[in-house]
Amino acid sequence: MTAQFALAHPAAATGQCPVAHGASEHGVPTKNHGYAPFAMTDPFPSYAALRENEPVMFDEELGYFIVSRYDDVKATFDNWQVFSSENAQAPVRPRGAAATTIMNDGGFTAYSGLSARIPPEHTRLRAIVQKEFTPRRYKKLEPTIRENTARLLTQMLSHPDARGDFLKDVAVDIPTITILGLLGVGPEMVATYKKWSDSRAAMTWGDLTDDEQIPHAHNLVDYWTECLRLVKNAHDQLENNENGDNLVFDLVQAQSTGSEISDHEIASVCYSLLFAGHETTTTLISNTIRELLAHPAEWQKLIDDPSRIPTAIDETLRFSPSIVGWRRKALEDTEIGGVKIPAGSNILLLMGSANRDPGTFEQPETFDINRVNARNHLSFGFGIHYCLGNMLAKMQDKIVVEETLKAAPGLRLIDAEKIEFGDNLSFRAPTSVPVTWGENK
Ligand code: HEM
Repeated sequence: MTAQFALAHPAAATGQCPVAHGASEHGVPTKNHGYAPFAMTDPFPSYAALRENEPVMFDEELGYFIVSRYDDVKATFDNWQVFSSENAQAPVRPRGAAATTIMNDGGFTAYSGLSARIPPEHTRLRAIVQKEFTPRRYKKLEPTIRENTARLLTQMLSHPDARGDFLKDVAVDIPTITILGLLGVGPEMVATYKKWSDSRAAMTWGDLTDDEQIPHAHNLVDYWTECLRLVKNAHDQLENNENGDNLVFDLVQAQSTGSEISDHEIASVCYSLLFAGHETTTTLISNTIRELLAHPAEWQKLIDDPSRIPTAIDETLRFSPSIVGWRRKALEDTEIGGVKIPAGSNILLLMGSANRDPGTFEQPETFDINRVNARNHLSFGFGIHYCLGNMLAKMQDKIVVEETLKAAPGLRLIDAEKIEFGDNLSFRAPTSVPVTWGENK
């Protein structure tokens, strides 16, 4: 469906691509080296072709420069003065008239909490919000995460046909309950927030037609209304001298004692965290279990020595990142990897490709939980926007792997080669992780 995209780049509008397209050994142009921006099931061969043939390529249909080598991706993330994140949350597909009306009428004014804000605003807000992401707070969450994991695993393992879907049975609920708890929302709301988050992913990074956008537009209005309600609720608690004991309450309290953050900004932080805080972690948990089971020798290594779990998680983040591409905008005429980038250009940094760059990682196509430099992956970004929740995500994943190794060491994948990943520009998430723990037949 990418052919429907508006050509956002000035060079694309003239039909003149600023960089030469590759050609196969037979001299036939290899259109985009097989790169299909929204096709997530197996993008890795096309990433390898991009790195090899055209590491900075202008994709005419998408209107973005695509950057695929490790050093270029990292340097671009790092140079926030020239490469702004202001487009990071912009809808890839222009919002249709009907969706726009629904959102305007519904009072939807949400903006990115942090990731699309730029200094000095970003610096001010990040300093306030990051005080909430403390090891003390994580430690408090740990027992509940472990209990939830054990409960969900027991539930899954009681299926009479000895088959389950690790994604739906375990990976969705764990981080969603955690982030809702952090923001003062009860676990009974998991399904509702999940629905809103799916709408957010589809509306921002998806490839929807105008008609397909309509139900999602309604969901986003409800989602934003709920964020405003959470802020109002925290103010009420503060006025009544109640202790909210959650992140929204803490931000409202910080505001009352002089921190420079408005109600709209707090609601925007909620809007961002309620999405960022679980969607990608659900994918990380699913991918860790999926990759380990797809590589039984690596799974066995963890059974023998669970102290290797943290490296296995870093290797999963490198090999199968939850986010394979993240956006930046050039603020001035510049270049990346020797390719000229005009001011105003949109850029897609392919972390999913950078993580498999043979210049940085030896035998990058091998999933190896003993890899010494796995943690140099770029899956949490790099620089001033480096993921604020990275430790929370890894802690939850570690607990899930620990509990799964204990409860179901004989877990196996079913039909691993048939697992699909939803279409999306940035998020590479499996649609299911079918598993069994029954007798080998
Ligand atoms: C596997 C899980 C996760 C992945 C792969 C991930 C990935 C990312 C990426 C790629 C960015 C943008 C970095 C950049 O622009 O340089 C980011 C930013 C962010 N992430 Fe995460 N994230 C994960 C989990 C979480 C969790 C659990 C939370 C919160 C509870 C969170 C909160 C944030 C926030 C607030 C930002 C914006 C930071 C800023 O702009 O200063 N993330 N994350």
